Amino acid sequence: ESIRLEVARYRPGQDAEPVFASYEVPLMPDWAVLDGLTYVKDRLDGTLSFRWSCRMGICGSCGMTVNGEPRLTCGTFLTEYGDGPVRIEPLKGFPVIRDLVVDIEDFLAKLSSVRPWLVREGEELPLTAEYAQTPAQLDAYKQYSMCINCMLCYSACPVYVLDPDFLGPAAIALAQRYNLDSRDMDDRFDVLSQEDAVWGCTFVGECTNACPKHVDPAEAIQRYKLTAALRSVLPWSRR
Ligand code: FES
Repeated sequence: ESIRLEVARYRPGQDAEPVFASYEVPLMPDWAVLDGLTYVKDRLDGTLSFRWSCRMGICGSCGMTVNGEPRLTCGTFLTEYGDGPVRIEPLKGFPVIRDLVVDIEDFLAKLSSVRPWLVREGEELPLTAEYAQTPAQLDAYKQYSMCINCMLCYSACPVYVLDPDFLGPAAIALAQRYNLDSRDMDDRFDVLSQEDAVWGCTFVGECTNACPKHVDPAEAIQRYKLTAALRSVLPWSRR
């Protein structure tokens, strides 16, 4: 038994536009979409380009658009698509470098912009002291620390796709990962309380639907809107 993959092929600067190439791959019960792509690369067409590393939903590098939805291809089984075909495209919202590989520079810059480290007033980095935390203090931010930077939430976000300046779901969830950490002394108000940051979110919630790690970025954003609103009325309040 086999299933047909329709895979977007594109070399910017050389091809006028992306085209779809069809490949028949074995339909095995334990094969993920990524296994199908690997079969194509190993057996049918070695020029196909895509990213992957861990094959176990940890590294976040294998995100692609599968039949219109942003998915981790290592965690999406081919059998989910019945008799097929399975249409595989690069993640929407990002410039394509080649075939299924997208440019992640803008995403990385956004993550860096939220000061993704423990900020301690009056202490130099790197921190050398130990700071004990209770299980409840860990639970306060743990959900937001589960992000694997797969960018599916950006690809699903209708705001980011229309406005690339929008800070976006993962970066705001990352900021909250530190804001809600009992060891952190910042609230990242200067970065987060901007029109292109939390106030740009229209609370569609597609980021949360797309997240394979249940980080719930939509909740992180709504929660910070409350923090930001309170802070503008009570400037000494934080978090
Ligand atoms: Fe690492 Fe899919 S290959 S998350």
